Amino acid sequence: MTDSQGDGVGGVTAMDLYEKLTAQGDKVRSLKTAKADKAEVDAAIQLLLKLKVDYKGVSGQDYKAGCPPSESAVVSNNGQSGNGAEEDTVDPWNVATNSAKGVDYDKLIVRFGSSKVDQELVDRIEKVSGQKPHHFLRRGIFFSHRDMHQVLDAYEKQKAFYLYTGRGPSSQAMHVGHLIPFIFTKWLQDVFDIPLVIQLTDDEKYLWKDLTLEDCHRFAVENAKDIIACGFDVNKTFIFSDLDYMGSSPEFYRNVVKIQKHVTFNQVKGIFGFTDSDCIGKISFPAIQAAPSFSNSFPQIFKGRKDVQCLIPCAIDQDPYFRMTRDVAPRIGYPKPALLHSTFFPALQGAQTKMSASDANSSIFLTDTPKQIKNKVNKHAFSGGKDTVEEHRQHGGNPDIDVSFMYLTFFMEDDEKLEKIRQDYSSGALLTGELKKMLIETLQPIITAHQEKRKNVTDEMVKQFMTPRSLDFNF
Ligand code: TRP
Repeated sequence: MTDSQGDGVGGVTAMDLYEKLTAQGDKVRSLKTAKADKAEVDAAIQLLLKLKVDYKGVSGQDYKAGCPPSESAVVSNNGQSGNGAEEDTVDPWNVATNSAKGVDYDKLIVRFGSSKVDQELVDRIEKVSGQKPHHFLRRGIFFSHRDMHQVLDAYEKQKAFYLYTGRGPSSQAMHVGHLIPFIFTKWLQDVFDIPLVIQLTDDEKYLWKDLTLEDCHRFAVENAKDIIACGFDVNKTFIFSDLDYMGSSPEFYRNVVKIQKHVTFNQVKGIFGFTDSDCIGKISFPAIQAAPSFSNSFPQIFKGRKDVQCLIPCAIDQDPYFRMTRDVAPRIGYPKPALLHSTFFPALQGAQTKMSASDANSSIFLTDTPKQIKNKVNKHAFSGGKDTVEEHRQHGGNPDIDVSFMYLTFFMEDDEKLEKIRQDYSSGALLTGELKKMLIETLQPIITAHQEKRKNVTDEMVKQFMTPRSLDFNF
């Protein structure tokens, strides 16, 4: 299945998909009638489901046999319009589900047309990098990917790649969830020893939020300090604010314009749900988030080369941007970026949504004191435990919906210890208060250490990271 089918970008019309769906429906029926091999029937059904998802993405309607798509179809975010209410909502602006366990990530893989990070891929990363895979990989936190095998194939043949990730600086306050992609990206940079570019989309936040340009730019620089505190190698990392870099790099802007020429309003409407009343800045912004995926946007780093493969670690809600990017890439003569997607960091109140920087009680902030951390966890972390100690001892708790346990899967490195906690909590041997205490004791030193490192990040260092320059790498 090609991307253009998955994306509804690049010339695949609702009618094309409707016809494919009708044919695939016939195929499934005839396989069933012929009592074909189960694997074959399953594969055909899988494809049928995927086509239905694509069809909805492009047409905004549910597929109905015998009812071709109508012209007036309303297209919305990832095909979430119409009666898709029971589906999880996952787009760059909203994450919501009705399930206490959180978003159904396996379904998302089918819906987005990405691939699962399976044991084979984790083993391969271990083999190629020569390092024990990060616990985010071992535990399915980075759970989905696009084209990782291709990146590893090339790397094995001494063809390097580069990393690209980013952050929208919407406020000064970053929370622990914001660190997840950066912690993981730092690990990738270390084990593969490759350059990294980090985009701070102060322009995006200006366009979407009620903030001044000055505020957004200031937040970008402040957030850069938290990012630098994650330990990135200054000789291999370029951090940039769009407001600064766009105007100073002709090469970057040329790529933005190229992308803008190859994506229609209709396509971004389908992917992002833009409407006629959205400002034109929003409508053209996806091209700016796409541009760093192409190496010649950074001539100072890649010496003008346009063929260095890019790998983007990000949370899965950013995938719409990169589906669009991957669709455009071959049409403007560039390689498609590969991706590694993470799950969301749940809000303290439960995995129905992700942490939000605008709700102080939903998050553990990087500026919280040990006491604040303790109070927030004790007071707000949703518990999968039973109401009374007696009941809990008898029936045990449910780690799958317990936010403290979920946080430990992100921050406790020791697999055996974590597994023991899971078992003890499930059996009732471990009480909610005790579990919370373990989380508090895990988080406090991590946050304190982060604050120490951030304090040591000087303005001079920020300037160094944010100056366009060549990096310590030979391309
Ligand atoms: N749009 C992202 C946000 O609001 C920021 C971002 C830009 C990003 N480029 C990226 C995130 C690349 C991940 C990867 O946070």
